[in-house]
Amino acid sequence: MSLPAAHPELDAKAGKACPVTGKTHEYQAPVEGDVRSVCPAINAMANHGYIRRDGKDISPFAIYSGLKACYGLSAPLAAFLTAGGWFLIKRIGRITLFDLGLHKAIEHDASVVHANCPSGQKYAPVQIQPALVEDFVVHVVDAASVGAGRTLSEAEVLVTGHDIVQTRLRREKLSKPLDAVHAEIARGEMAIILGVWNQNVGGKEGIPLSWMRTWLADERLPEGWRPDHVQTMRDVVKRSSAIRAEMKKIREGEAAAAKGQ
Ligand code: HEM
Repeated sequence: MSLPAAHPELDAKAGKACPVTGKTHEYQAPVEGDVRSVCPAINAMANHGYIRRDGKDISPFAIYSGLKACYGLSAPLAAFLTAGGWFLIKRIGRITLFDLGLHKAIEHDASVVHANCPSGQKYAPVQIQPALVEDFVVHVVDAASVGAGRTLSEAEVLVTGHDIVQTRLRREKLSKPLDAVHAEIARGEMAIILGVWNQNVGGKEGIPLSWMRTWLADERLPEGWRPDHVQTMRDVVKRSSAIRAEMKKIREGEAAAAKGQ
């Protein structure tokens, strides 16, 4: 179909649906001048037009609505994350996405794919570290291959809660200890996406590794994916508590082994 001469431009900034083609949430990488955050979830929302694609002039309501539309979060969970976020960065009203990276507000060290905030700097770097993405992928594939008793390809692997436990332990060993609030935030970030993307493939549960890689490295949603359930706060709390309990158990085991030596 050819478009009429007066075909209205798709609003690249607000990500509104095109009235002619109906297309709306295709991926578009950020362009010069666009602003992004330290959060892959929020950046993917901007890259897919669930919030303004330029990452500027973002209201809390836009994030709240975006979280529900993009990831299928329940209203209480979306409201809690948005209100909690604005509270921690001590802001009221509109922000740019960069503002979310205020160090020690929500942002913390020992992130999965971001470098620590350099000392003396107020905002953490938003650049994704390809080496950290690779490190994450390699560890997940290796663990799954050991479990399967053969070398698995990336396409065969699911990211599980155990992988997140191992990732958090590995990253936190390389930083100063996180305080309780930021350790909880770090577990919660991953617990949400585990809940949103959990799949059952051949009796095994987890997130397809290829989805995680694309999300963490390119801040892009899986092709054609749409939420298939409402992601509740209760499920997130359950997953996060399981991650915390397993991390504690492993740390206690390591401490006991070190004492016994
Ligand atoms: C669907 C909801 C969300 C999911 C799945 C999610 C997931 C994540 C993940 C996995 C990270 C860690 C990235 C890394 O370790 O390198 C992260 C970081 C972050 N997120 Fe989100 N997020 C969500 C919503 C939000 C909201 C609503 C806010 C604030 C209003 C927010 C602010 C942040 C910040 C500031 C960081 C940086 C933390 C750090 O230092 O690693 N996120 N998020």
